[in-house]
Amino acid sequence: MFKLCKRDNMVDLKRLAVNIRTVVFIGTFLIPALLYFVISNHATSNVRSYQTIPKWTSELYESTDSAANNRKRLSHAVQKVRLLCVIMTMEKDLATKVAAVNDTWVPRCDKYLYIITTKEKRNDFMSLDIPDKRQNLALKMRKVFTTIYEQYMDQFDYVLKCDDDTYVIVENLKFLLWHYDANKPSYFGFHFNKFIDSGYMSGGAGYVISNKGIRLLVERGYQHGVCDLEKHEDDPDNSEDVETGRCLQTVGVPPLSSLDADGRETFHPYPLERHLDGHLPGFMFSWAKHSIRKGDGCCSKYSISFHYVPPHAIYYLHHVLYKTTVFGLNHDEDLIRPVFNSENVVFETR
Ligand SMILES: *[C@@H]1O[C@H](CO)[C@@H](O)[C@H](O)[C@H]1NC(C)=O
Repeated sequence: MFKLCKRDNMVDLKRLAVNIRTVVFIGTFLIPALLYFVISNHATSNVRSYQTIPKWTSELYESTDSAANNRKRLSHAVQKVRLLCVIMTMEKDLATKVAAVNDTWVPRCDKYLYIITTKEKRNDFMSLDIPDKRQNLALKMRKVFTTIYEQYMDQFDYVLKCDDDTYVIVENLKFLLWHYDANKPSYFGFHFNKFIDSGYMSGGAGYVISNKGIRLLVERGYQHGVCDLEKHEDDPDNSEDVETGRCLQTVGVPPLSSLDADGRETFHPYPLERHLDGHLPGFMFSWAKHSIRKGDGCCSKYSISFHYVPPHAIYYLHHVLYKTTVFGLNHDEDLIRPVFNSENVVFETR
């Protein structure tokens, strides 16, 4: 009898302990978790979020089709991304810098326009009558984007803006862009975390804006006068890339990641050799949104652009990339795992 009683007490104690544990569990985990769920859902209810179509999951990387067929399908889809390239230049550089880019990467764009202050009218020119001065670059870009909006909106998915000493690997750029939707606002490039809350993309490394992004930039930013060119104390020259970034932020076009899946950069503000040995000006280390790496970590295998490349090096790079190969290299890796570190994009639409 006594023994039994003792055992019952123990059972009761155990039960009590279990009940206390349950209450503690509900109090410390379940209720906060529920609260978090309710609050976070409420907080995001007026923000539209969308998955930036990581197409590999459904369409390609899980496909059971043969590698050869997948390769064909992927390259077909990537080629369909329509890219309009605008290249800033000056009349004095036509025979040297323009000749080099025009002989190499530029014809890989679906359409291209050299932005130039001249009276000459040519099919591949967008002729401006704004004097060639650094302080006029922002004004020029507004003119360029407005003209694109007025004349070319149905001819492209993305616009690339770069300089006549930029080398662009167009196929890699299209491959990155294929992951996204041109009917959503987006903005890509080498990301500087400076001057503007959301940062801006380096003009020399080249930046890319989606069709929808151009529409918002011109309709809301320029035509509604939301983005008037004002003087900013920290950027007295109104650098064109800063001004473009500022206006894109104002009209709700988000800067998106162009890092690869290993976190390496694809757009580069300097030539390859300088990113490799890390011989870069000091501001690069403090302004860059993602910390600068040198050596192999500097540059994605799927790199998109390099800046400050003189004409002879434009030809050099082109030859190494397209006219040289190495026996036995595996070219199928772009099919096997995701290449880019593409993110879920959450931003407010106005
Ligand atoms: C670029 O190359 C095309 C094709 O070779 C040529 O017709 C055109 O005149 C060139 N443009 C410039 C600005 O050199």
